[in-house]
Amino acid sequence: MITTIIVVLIVLYFVKNIYTEFVANNSNPLAAGDNDKDKSIVQGKFTPKTLAKYNGKDDPKIFIAVKNRVFDVTQGAAFYGPGGPYENFAGRDASRGLALNSFDPAVLTPIDQPIDDLKNLTKLELESLESWDEHFENRYKIVGTLHENGTVKEED
Ligand code: HEM
Ligand SMILES: *[C@@H]1O[C@H](CO)[C@@H](O)[C@H](O)[C@H]1NC(C)=O
Ligand SMILES: *[C@@H]1O[C@H](CO)[C@@H](O)[C@H](O)[C@H]1NC(C)=O
Ligand SMILES: *[C@@H]1O[C@H](CO)[C@@H](O)[C@H](O)[C@H]1NC(C)=O
Repeated sequence: MITTIIVVLIVLYFVKNIYTEFVANNSNPLAAGDNDKDKSIVQGKFTPKTLAKYNGKDDPKIFIAVKNRVFDVTQGAAFYGPGGPYENFAGRDASRGLALNSFDPAVLTPIDQPIDDLKNLTKLELESLESWDEHFENRYKIVGTLHENGTVKEED
């Protein structure tokens, strides 16, 4: 019984995966002919505070930090944008939330505190974070890195 439920959930997950990929492929005319990938990568240094504005509200772009790399997840606005199921991650270091598989905003380190060193994660939590990191790497562009102190280099 439990096994059936798990299998169904996994199948649903993959179907949704393919669907979102399909939508992403077809809703982004820029991606199709984008040979020069580096050109569109903003190499910025962010702090938790400067990252916070990229939450889809204060700025239409949505950035998320995972293990100190900042991803542009604007294409995933349905997930991370205002009203989305994972809006708590928008403009934030999502690492601990991804590790714990929790979208509880209280799990994330407040932006006026030092960056979460993730030292007390369990092996399983680290594995979860690792696989989310790969997910983001495969799907989104890296636009910068997260630092305690830094400056944002704005895109033209
Ligand atoms: C309540 C049970 C949950 C269900 C039914 C669910 C369902 C889904 C589905 C169908 C997707 C789309 C799959 C894809 O396109 O890759 C997804 C993606 C995602 N989920 Fe969940 N989810 C749940 C809980 C969570 C939790 C607790 C987290 C917290 C870490 C989470 C984080 C994510 C993230 C980060 C994505 C990736 C979105 C992207 O590709 O940008 N989910 N979820
Ligand atoms: C979407 O595009 C990627 C890379 O261009 C390709 O590997 C993938 O198969 C495409 N997915 C679908 C569902 O068309
Ligand atoms: C791990 O560290 C985080 C952030 O430093 C803290 O909020 C959390 O309570 C800690 N968890 C455990 C189990 O020690
Ligand atoms: C960051 O800057 C603040 C004040 O500007 C300073 O107090 C803090 O020590 C710095 N942190 C690091 C890691 O350099």
